[in-house]
Amino acid sequence: MKITIINGPNLNLLGTRETDIYGDESFDSYLDTIRSYYPNAEIDYLQSNVEGEIINYIQESGKSDGIILNAAAYTHTSVGIADAVKSVECNVIEVHISNTFSREEFRHKSYLSPVVNGIIIGFGLNSYKLALESLIKGE
Ligand code: DQA
Repeated sequence: MKITIINGPNLNLLGTRETDIYGDESFDSYLDTIRSYYPNAEIDYLQSNVEGEIINYIQESGKSDGIILNAAAYTHTSVGIADAVKSVECNVIEVHISNTFSREEFRHKSYLSPVVNGIIIGFGLNSYKLALESLIKGE
């Protein structure tokens, strides 16, 4: 089973960026942990700060068994990323580390939520593991 995790802008800074909100673990370190939980799954990881690159990644990952997408700030602005999600056949799970609904109002709007298969928000980095479990177990 092949799952692709796609992270959007500024998530390359996890571990040092706004640690009170996003924690102090880097994504590379967290990735090692989730890969060790599911050694039989192939977990690819892509990150970009550029909207069009994220769209390319989604299109290129459409043949995976699932995409876990944290489009970060583009969640709240990007019709292009929402259209890319609609174009792929595999399941796409939207995740957020923080509870976007307990933050500024502009974070309450997601262009992705109406077009994804499921949403996991606010469990810290564990949001990715929960998304992975749902894709792997098919729940
Ligand atoms: C985020 C929430 C977004 O509002 C923010 O712009 C991010 C990260 C999260 O994972 O909590 O960069 O997607």
